[in-house]
Amino acid sequence: MAMDIFKITGPVRLDGTVTIGNSKNAALPIMAATILAGGKNTLLGLPNLSDISIMCKLLEDMGCKTSADNGTISIDSAAIDKPFGDYETVRKMRAGICVLGPLLARCGKAEVSMPGGCAIGYRPVDIHLRGLQELGAKIELKNGYIVAHANGGLKGANIFLGGPFGSSVLATANIMSAAVLAKGKTIIESAACEPEVTDLANCLVKMGAKISGIGSPQLTIHGVKNLNPVEYAIIPDRIEAGTFMAAAVITKGKLKLKNCRLDHLMAVVDKLRSMNVAVDETQDGCEVSFNGHIQPTDITTLPYPGFPTDLQAQFMACLCLARGNSVITEKIFPDRFMHVAELSRMAANLRKEGPHVIISGVEKLIAAPVMASDLRASAALVVAALAAHGETIINRVYHIDRGYEKIEQKFNAVGAKIERQSI
Ligand code: EPZ
Repeated sequence: MAMDIFKITGPVRLDGTVTIGNSKNAALPIMAATILAGGKNTLLGLPNLSDISIMCKLLEDMGCKTSADNGTISIDSAAIDKPFGDYETVRKMRAGICVLGPLLARCGKAEVSMPGGCAIGYRPVDIHLRGLQELGAKIELKNGYIVAHANGGLKGANIFLGGPFGSSVLATANIMSAAVLAKGKTIIESAACEPEVTDLANCLVKMGAKISGIGSPQLTIHGVKNLNPVEYAIIPDRIEAGTFMAAAVITKGKLKLKNCRLDHLMAVVDKLRSMNVAVDETQDGCEVSFNGHIQPTDITTLPYPGFPTDLQAQFMACLCLARGNSVITEKIFPDRFMHVAELSRMAANLRKEGPHVIISGVEKLIAAPVMASDLRASAALVVAALAAHGETIINRVYHIDRGYEKIEQKFNAVGAKIERQSI
């Protein structure tokens, strides 16, 4: 793997227009769901990211034919001869687990490696397994693989999918994708309501699934015999949009975001407004502009429609420069604080107390060599570096590349000074 680094010179003021890409986290479960609709599916507007290629590889290994052309990916799932998800592929990406439900529904059996994913703390899969068991699957763990059988097919059930930290995004995706082909009626309680889950539900409906309550915590699904292949366009990436919003704030800049769904970012917009940031809706996005002093605020991450955990790190970067003290509480992944040590290297004043970080605003951030640790923590380091004085060097940029397409080109086009170097 190329070990690229970023050299970022700051401080800069961002000004201009950015076109946001479409959502990787919406795309991955939808790609997995094409397993359910035997035939040629066409997905439009996918970002060009390594996780998307990994999902293509996973689908190819089980017998699908995939091809990618400039954001359009076609997945021919007519023949699935090997319902298997290899360790080497699935360990690279948590969303690999999303093939489990669709494979079980289509083939009656599946064997999928326990997934990997970003280093943001322990991430169990018990909710996924419990949900599939309630649909009638027999599940064993063997040599690091989840081995599942549904002899006689899956059967609809009433399922509560809540866990210790609330709903689960990918477990909801998995169970909903399995239930659409199960016999009879399934009710999922405590379903995740994230826009990515809604996008999957809308795609399944287009395939012919019968789902009601989409977007709410109670989904009702009437199983159908089979589904038809579709052409489907993925939603814009709300987390990429939120990352650029944070960058506009920390650089006291003005960014117009195109292809941005403000209705998916209400908690974020509310927070921004309480920080004195102007956010105005435009025809296909919004304009974020900020001038003045960042107001300290408290942020608690919560399942949608609450403030997203995937923007916690980027907003922490902003609050490092607020006039006063702020508190961030992480309620989804209580150990997701890899960025705290790195931001501190840049002269931020942070104190971690369990799932809380107390942020005492400082006058300025100072450039330093830092390490990217996971996708969103690394995005936070880029945001901080835009405002930091001097040249920040970010190592292990491949973490950022997993979730942001051409991030340095997008930032440089609106006034950043980011140089990518291969070492
Ligand atoms: C999805 O992960 C996203 N990943 C994450 O994005 C995101 O941070 C997360 O949802 C929360 O919004 C993808 O979409 C590929 P969860 P997911 O199951 O579904 C606990 C990024 O940076 N839990 O909703 O895996 C879990 O430990 C990433 O783009 C169980 O206890 O997250 C956590 O505390 C990282 N048992 C909580 O639920 C389970 O079986 C919510 O996690 C499953 C989850």
